[in-house]
Amino acid sequence: MDTYPPSPWLSGEPGGERAFPHPCTLSPRCLCDIIKHTSKQEGMGVKIRLTINGTPGEFDVEPGMILLDLLRASGFKSVKKGCDGASCGSCTVLMDGRAVLSCGILAAHANGCAIQTLEGLGSDLQLDPVQKAFLDGNAFQCGFCAPGLIMSTRELLDRYDSLSREQIRKHLSGNLCRCTGYEAQISAVEKLFEQRKGGVQDVREP
Ligand code: FES
Ligand code: FES
Repeated sequence: MDTYPPSPWLSGEPGGERAFPHPCTLSPRCLCDIIKHTSKQEGMGVKIRLTINGTPGEFDVEPGMILLDLLRASGFKSVKKGCDGASCGSCTVLMDGRAVLSCGILAAHANGCAIQTLEGLGSDLQLDPVQKAFLDGNAFQCGFCAPGLIMSTRELLDRYDSLSREQIRKHLSGNLCRCTGYEAQISAVEKLFEQRKGGVQDVREP
């Protein structure tokens, strides 16, 4: 687990707005050079390997295709296209365990990475503890922001032993919600960290 702070995931002070590192810093297998080469040659794609929710696969992608579009085209419709401009957080997925905005990453940048979407987190029969906490806390209205917020929260729980309410708020500030006013969402996450102190398991058994 990381200690808090420091966190490269938060940019600058004050405010601690969420920032996502350039994908090249996440993936040593990034295909930047291939993209630079092929992007000049229309119609020429690249073959990438991704493990999505534990299942490895090969994908043919155009050089300019973003990870969000690849995931949705592959059936992972929990990954929401909100702003499509790296501003709302609704497209958040985990890439090698780190929360990233899939609309801000070329699919080819993710070559060789493990991607986790909401579909790989829980099921109707067995919710992830994060899903259950939000459900119990009535933390959503329309639910459009839910998949991204749940994935961001999952990352927080996986990375940190404990966070204050203010730290939770800062960490999740990149996940916008137009319905709720955030209080119930922050409270649900705070409760998860409190339960952990009491010994309640918040990692779903495989
Ligand atoms: S759709 Fe990716 S941040 Fe809004
Ligand atoms: S519940 Fe509607 S956008 Fe968050």
